[in-house]
Amino acid sequence: MLKVAVMVSGGGTNLQAIIDAVEAGTITNTEIVAVVSNNKGAYALERAKNAGIKGIVVSPKDYETREQFNEALVQQMDLLQVDLIVLAGYLVVIPPAMIDKYENRIINIHPSLIPSFCGTGFYGLKVHEAALERGVKVVGATVHFVDKGTDTGPILLQKAVAVELGDTPEVLQRRVMEQAEWLLLPQAIDLIANGKVSIVNGKTVIED
Ligand code: GRF
Repeated sequence: MLKVAVMVSGGGTNLQAIIDAVEAGTITNTEIVAVVSNNKGAYALERAKNAGIKGIVVSPKDYETREQFNEALVQQMDLLQVDLIVLAGYLVVIPPAMIDKYENRIINIHPSLIPSFCGTGFYGLKVHEAALERGVKVVGATVHFVDKGTDTGPILLQKAVAVELGDTPEVLQRRVMEQAEWLLLPQAIDLIANGKVSIVNGKTVIED
């Protein structure tokens, strides 16, 4: 049984997709042991509570320094004894020590087809604003393993989504969530939970 912690900062629609997929059996062999947020007001914590999942807040605001926050976060993860950490709309930089300790055991969902519209400053609506500004015809989402860069780790899954005439950033974001993010993240967790993913020379290999 894969023990998973999901890290969130906001509304938690990706978390909800994971919760629903576990309940529906499209994610197998997996237990969500906790939802961890930097933001005590995150609606994602309500979603966790409604699903009977432990919600934990570890906020940088509660620590004197970033180093103290980083240490507290790693300690919290170690206490949970998780196999996989899933970043689902989590907006705080992951401590390098945590990336070392959980090498290739942290995945993130990014709302673009990496390497487009990613890296520092590209999150949330900003990603979709940039895509519309550039005039691309296809966007999408990516699940990748987290390394010490920003959106630079081995890509695991991607799914393309069409841009439609008259799209606003909000409409496009919603379509990317519905048609890509909410499908890819559960699929990624199920693949990992069933031992179907390996990383060779910095690239993922997925067994059929
Ligand atoms: C959204 O911008 C989503 O594309 C990205 O994180 C943000 C919040 O998602 N992955 P969520 O509703 O909190 O899962």
